Amino acid sequence: MPAAEPSWWETAVVYQVYIRSFADGDGDGIGDIAGLRTRLPYLAELGVDAIWINPWYPSPMADAGYDVSDYRDIEPAYGTLGDAQALIADAHGVGIRVLLDIVPNHTSDQHMWFRAALADEPGARLRYHFRPGRGPGGAEPPNNWQSVFGGPAWTRLADGSWYLHLFAPGQPDLNWAHPEVRAEFENILTFWFDRGVDGFRIDVAHGLVKQDGLPDADESVETAQSLVQDRAGHPAWDQDGVHDIYRGWRAVADRYTPERIFIAEAWVDGNERLARYLRSDELHTAFQFDFLRTPWRARALREVIDDAIAAAASVGAPPTWVLSNHDVTRTVTRFARSQPHHLIETDWERGRWADEDPDHELGRRRARAAALVQFALPGTAYVYQGEELALEEIEDLPDDVRQDPTWAQSGFTDVGRDGCRIPLPWTETDVPYGFAARSDAVTWLPQPTHWAQHSVQAQERDPRSTLNLYRRALALRPSLWRDGSAIRWLDVTDGVAAFQRGGVQCWVNTGHSGVPLPPAATVVLASSDLTGDVLPPDTAVWLRSQ
Ligand code: BGC
Repeated sequence: MPAAEPSWWETAVVYQVYIRSFADGDGDGIGDIAGLRTRLPYLAELGVDAIWINPWYPSPMADAGYDVSDYRDIEPAYGTLGDAQALIADAHGVGIRVLLDIVPNHTSDQHMWFRAALADEPGARLRYHFRPGRGPGGAEPPNNWQSVFGGPAWTRLADGSWYLHLFAPGQPDLNWAHPEVRAEFENILTFWFDRGVDGFRIDVAHGLVKQDGLPDADESVETAQSLVQDRAGHPAWDQDGVHDIYRGWRAVADRYTPERIFIAEAWVDGNERLARYLRSDELHTAFQFDFLRTPWRARALREVIDDAIAAAASVGAPPTWVLSNHDVTRTVTRFARSQPHHLIETDWERGRWADEDPDHELGRRRARAAALVQFALPGTAYVYQGEELALEEIEDLPDDVRQDPTWAQSGFTDVGRDGCRIPLPWTETDVPYGFAARSDAVTWLPQPTHWAQHSVQAQERDPRSTLNLYRRALALRPSLWRDGSAIRWLDVTDGVAAFQRGGVQCWVNTGHSGVPLPPAATVVLASSDLTGDVLPPDTAVWLRSQ
């Protein structure tokens, strides 16, 4: 019997739209739905299968929209529900599916439930985690948990009680043991599924259930701090009870045709723990973040690729490949400095692990090569807006424009994530480079003065640009790499990783010298110019073997 055709999401390329910085349709310097609608043809031409839109709900923006005050509406700066409907229809019209971002771990402190809790309406505090403090007069937080953004995970109200927030104080954690919380979120899913949304990326999917009694974290275990640290053993994360919630969500999704899907953002301790979220009655896929934490070394790449594929296969899910997102230093900049062995420390992720000046041209070569590896792998691939333009992290933003709550909450020691969230450059003009409908618009984060050369317009004209490399790679991917999920590693020299799928090979050279390619192979696509039949350093190539 022929193998069943995979569902679209099992092989999809998903483009992450950070809506605030994608395109601004009304000229206020903030990206919006109108802007996104006008750029759908660009995304169709790029060749992506779906978009994932970061939270677009009404929000006081304590954490760039991850503090939601109403899950069934649209942030006025981004548009209206009508605009959202039109966007979904337009996207479907050009063959692009639409995934939203759901934020179930916490609400905004302006959400009606939390306002009721602040007013101490009967029962309202039970939907969150309110506790008395410890020590004399209850002046100490109820436990030793730290916020991901820095400082204690607890804030004290004027009446003396404390509430839990694993992120900013404006993001109180919901109590998922409360039946109304469960019912409400299933209802929110239905609201958007009914409007044609194809699925959800689940924010902090590993955080919803806390260990009973909210015990202190073992001091020997890393604190909750940092989105990217491993959290094995911390009572705030990856508790077994969370899976029952996702079984309920899956049942909601399974009522719909065409398929509705979920992608978990779950920073857990290793791929085996992650695979638990992907059991057949839970979520469809999950981001596997080890790929983006991997240094530019062939052996390390090979290890994380094998590990990710094996873990996903153990539960029959497709692996996922992420090089970048709105929470981590852009790929170009991660690869623009020397490459330590372990890339999981926060400081490294934020690009401040050394006083080294970044070599962005080197970072770009490597990022282009990494993209060809990413698109050659089985499973789903995520592209964060601007990766296709090889944008670098903006590391020298003036302190007074920073918006990420990490900056203040870390006591102004951690610059946070603004540097990867700069509005996109579309045209070769001066700032705002066609990002906004008005040329005198002031963008919500300033763009650098040298980005005209990296704009979409400039790159469209240049056949060797990263944008054109992405377009070619995505056009070739469905036919070239369609054969099966198994990859077979080839026996090659140190510093090179090479694998075969079907009749096609992908080679990447992370070493310092050129490596001869197999004599009878035909080059289909290369990330940088080849010198004869030699694969230069920091270059990847797709080959058809004879
Ligand atoms: C999102 C972050 C956000 C956090 C809190 C994450 O994992 O990706 O951008 O700050 O959740 O909602």
